[in-house]
Amino acid sequence: MHEADRRVVIVAAHARNRVIGRGGEIPWHLPEDFAHFKAETLGHTLVMGRATWDSIGRPLPGRSTVVVTRDPQWSPGQYGDQVQVAHSVPEALALADQLPGDTVIAGGGQIYAETLDRATHMVLTEVHLSPEGDAFFPEVDLSQWREVRRVSREDLDWVWWERNGLDAHG
Ligand SMILES: NC(=O)c1ccc[n+]([C@@H]2O[C@H](COP(=O)([O-])OP(=O)(O)OC[C@H]3O[C@@H](n4cnc5c(N)ncnc54)[C@H](OP(=O)(O)O)[C@@H]3O)[C@@H](O)[C@H]2O)c1
Repeated sequence: MHEADRRVVIVAAHARNRVIGRGGEIPWHLPEDFAHFKAETLGHTLVMGRATWDSIGRPLPGRSTVVVTRDPQWSPGQYGDQVQVAHSVPEALALADQLPGDTVIAGGGQIYAETLDRATHMVLTEVHLSPEGDAFFPEVDLSQWREVRRVSREDLDWVWWERNGLDAHG
């Protein structure tokens, strides 16, 4: 069972039109956002869909990894000793509960949509572009969330959100 006080943090970069990906890749190149992602996720446990795993292709250093797939045969190949495999979202969250730090939902579109109701926090990069894409960040009912911090730059905003009604552990 999911621990009540475990932080489940969605970390995503989405464009103005909610695009997050195209053809298995991220349709922009923003090195400062990669640095931001690293800073927000180091020491934590990443939960990601198999498609996002394929797009990264290796475990990210300093972070634990849980990959979600429906394929019972799937394995992370040479990284089998570093990556946990889950076959459902609840299983992925339960595995992540046993691993270090917060549970970071690292995408992609399917996994964001399927975990949004379990998230306690969101760290979103609002990218000031509207590229074509085939993967999207889900619509969020922001009445359930409060913005706690925003850093605005010319090409993007970094925004930290907390779900309303979290207790002192949140
Ligand atoms: N901008 C960002 O912040 C960001 C972050 C991450 C990813 N991305 C981009 O997003 C795109 C990928 O997103 P996506 O939506 O196509 O794929 P995804 O969410 O990364 O992965 C989808 C896969 O996850 C597995 N899956 C999904 N729901 C499941 C469930 N309930 N139970 C078990 N397995 C489940 C399935 O794997 P199987 O097919 O193996 O069964 C499915 O094909 C890429 O373009 C990537 O670059 C962007």
